[in-house]
Amino acid sequence: MRRSVVIRTVTLATCLAVLIVLSSCGGGGSSSDTSNEKPIARVSPETEQFIQVGGSINFSGDSSSDPDGNNPLNYQWTFSGAITSIQQSTDSNAGMVSFTEVGTVTAKLVVTDSLGLASDITTVVINVAAVNSNQPPVGSISHDDANGSVGSAGNFSITAGSSVVFSSTVTDPEDDSISYAWDFQGGTPATSNSSSVTVNYANAGTFPVSLVVSDGNSNSVTIPATPLLVTVVANLPVFKHLPILMPTMVGDVATYTLNAQENINVVVETPEGSWTTPMMRYNDLQLPPVIVAKRGDSIEVNVNNNLIASDEDTTVHWHGFKIPGSQDGGPDFPIPAGTSKTYSFTLVQPAASLWFHPHAHGTTATQVYKGLAGAFILTDDITDALEANNELPSGEYDIALLVQDRQFTEETNVSGVRDLVYQVGMNGVLSDRILVNGAEMPALDVATSQYRFRLYNASNARTYNFALDNGANFYVVGSDGGLLNIPVLTKNIMLGAGERAEIVVDFRHRLNQQIKLISRAVGNNSADSDVMRFDVNREVTDPVVLYASLPANAEINTRLTKADASVTRDFVMSMRMGPTGGIVFLINEMTFDMSRIDETVVSGAIEIWNIQNTSVMEHPFHAHAIQWQVLDRGPTGGILTAASGVELGWKDTVLVQPGETVRFIGKFDPVVNSGLYMYHCHILEHEDAGMMGTFEVLP
Ligand code: C2O
Ligand code: CU
Ligand code: CU
Repeated sequence: MRRSVVIRTVTLATCLAVLIVLSSCGGGGSSSDTSNEKPIARVSPETEQFIQVGGSINFSGDSSSDPDGNNPLNYQWTFSGAITSIQQSTDSNAGMVSFTEVGTVTAKLVVTDSLGLASDITTVVINVAAVNSNQPPVGSISHDDANGSVGSAGNFSITAGSSVVFSSTVTDPEDDSISYAWDFQGGTPATSNSSSVTVNYANAGTFPVSLVVSDGNSNSVTIPATPLLVTVVANLPVFKHLPILMPTMVGDVATYTLNAQENINVVVETPEGSWTTPMMRYNDLQLPPVIVAKRGDSIEVNVNNNLIASDEDTTVHWHGFKIPGSQDGGPDFPIPAGTSKTYSFTLVQPAASLWFHPHAHGTTATQVYKGLAGAFILTDDITDALEANNELPSGEYDIALLVQDRQFTEETNVSGVRDLVYQVGMNGVLSDRILVNGAEMPALDVATSQYRFRLYNASNARTYNFALDNGANFYVVGSDGGLLNIPVLTKNIMLGAGERAEIVVDFRHRLNQQIKLISRAVGNNSADSDVMRFDVNREVTDPVVLYASLPANAEINTRLTKADASVTRDFVMSMRMGPTGGIVFLINEMTFDMSRIDETVVSGAIEIWNIQNTSVMEHPFHAHAIQWQVLDRGPTGGILTAASGVELGWKDTVLVQPGETVRFIGKFDPVVNSGLYMYHCHILEHEDAGMMGTFEVLP
C-alpha cells in the first residue's frame, strides 16, 4: 500500500515535472530550460554625454532585450554622482533626469529577466559642465576651386563662371551638435547650412565668404574672424579691331563693294561666354568694316542689296559727309532687295570720324540694329602732318570703337545660338548689353603710351557719357566733323546716338593697371555701365606730344558767327499722343512725308538752325549734308550759353535736352550741296516713326 502510494507519488511527481515542461514549452517555444541567456541592457542615449549644469537627459531602456524572452524584465537604473532629482528607477524608461551639479555622473542600467538572470551593467558617462565653462566651437574652412587651387585659408581668385568647394572642419569642446550658416556674397547659393558646399561665381567682383558656426548652447563664432575674400576675375573677350575694307583702284577712283547680307552667323563674345547670332552684315564680315580715305579722294561704292529673304529696301547713308543729295543714301533713293546702286563722290571736307548706315524708309532702325553699319575714317594733310610729327597718336595707337547696345534671347533650341531682341520703348531701343566692336566688355592690351580712340555712338538710341573708371582726365581732340583746334581736357564726354568723339587717353604711367572705359549714368541711362577695359601690360617709349593747337590756317579753324548768317530757321521737336493712341514724334508739328519738302535752302548760304526740344526726353538732332558749329544752348526762353570747350568742334548731330534750345550755324557748301537731304532725330526708332523732315538745297 505504501509502495503503491510511493509509486503514485513518483508518478505524480513525474506528472508534475511533465506539466512544468509542457507549460514551459507553451511560453518559450522550442528553447529548453537549460539555455537561459542573460538579457542585454540597452540604454538610450548610449554614448558619453556632455551637458550644461541644470540640463536634463531622457533615458530609456529597451524592453525587448532578453534574447530568450524571459519577460517581464526588471530594470535597475542607478544614477551615481552629482545628481539630485532621480537617482534610482525601475521603469524601463527612467524619463527625464536632470543634472544639477558640475561633475562626472554615471548612469547605470542592469536588467534582470523573469528567471532572475541579470545583464551586464551598461554605463553612460555624463559630463556636467558649469555654464561658464561652455566653449564655442573652433575650426577652419578650406576651399578647392575648379582650377585645382586648394587652400586652407587666405584670399584667392578665380575666373568668373567657375565653382569653388568650401569645406569646414569644426569641433566643439562640449561636443554639442554644430550648425552651419555660410554666407557667400556674389555666389550661388548665397547661403548654405551644410558643413561643405559648392559655390558658383558668375560675375566679376570681390566677395567675402563667412561661416557662422553655432553649438547647441547658442555659442556662435564666425570663421574666419575676418571674412575670406574671393576675387572673381571676369573672363573678358579679347578686343577686336574693325576690319579695314580695301578698295580696288579704277584709275584714280577707289572702288569699294558693300554687300548687304542677312543671316550671317555672327559670334558674339561676352564675359559670360560666347554664342552665335544671325545678323545682318556687310560682305559676310563678322564685324562692321572701316573705310579709310583721304580728303580729295574720289570713291565709288557698289552696294548690292542681298536682303532677299527679308525683302527689304536698303541704302547706304554717308553720315556726316558733304556730298550731293543723290549720293547721300537717304530714303529718297532706295535700293530694293536684289538690286544694286553705285555711290560716287569726292571727299571735300576736313579729316573726321564719319560713318555709314542704312537709311531706307521705315527700316533704318532695324537694319542698323541687326548689324549694318560701318566706320569711315577720313584723313587729310593736317592729320597726316600731326601724325608724322608725333603730335597725334597714330597707327596701332589710333583705334575705332563702335559702341552699340544689343539684347539677345537666352539660348534658342539650337545650342549655342541666340537671337537678337529688338524691344522698342518710348526712348527707342535701349538694350542691356553694350558691345564694342561686336563684343561685350572686351579687354584691349595697351602699351604705356597715349592712344587715340575714335568713339562712335552707333547705338540706335542710347546716350553714353564716356569716362574712365579711375576718374582720370583725357583729351577730346575731335568731334563729329573733325579735329578740335585746341584739345580739351575732361573727365567725360557725352555722346547721343549718332555722335562721335576722338579722345586721347594717356597710359604712360599706368603699367600693370587695368582701366575701364565706362559710361556714367546720364540721360536715358539710369546707372553707370562698363564699356571696355584697357590692360596696360607693355612698356614702350611714347614719342607723342599732343598738338596744342592746329595750324592757324587750317580750314577747320574757321569760326562762323551769327552775323555771317542770312537765314534762321526754327525746328521744334515734340512728342504727343497720336489720334490712334500711340505716341507721335514730330518736328514742327509734322511727321515725315517723303513727298513733302519742308525747307528750301540756297546753296552757299550760311544759316542758323534753332532747335527746340519741347518733349520730355532728349533727342539727338541730325542734318545731312552739313557740319555745324554750336552757337549756344540753354533753357528755351531763357539765357543761352555760348559754346565752349568740346562744343567748339564741328557737329552733324547734336543732343538737345528736354526743354532746351540749341542754336547752330553752318554753311551749305556751294560745290557739293544740291538736292534733297534729311534732318531728323538720330534715335533711329524716332526717325522711323517720322521725327524727320526733308530739306532741299537749290544749286
Ligand atoms: Cu546717321 Cu539720316 O542719319
Ligand atoms: Cu546722316
Ligand atoms: Cu528722338
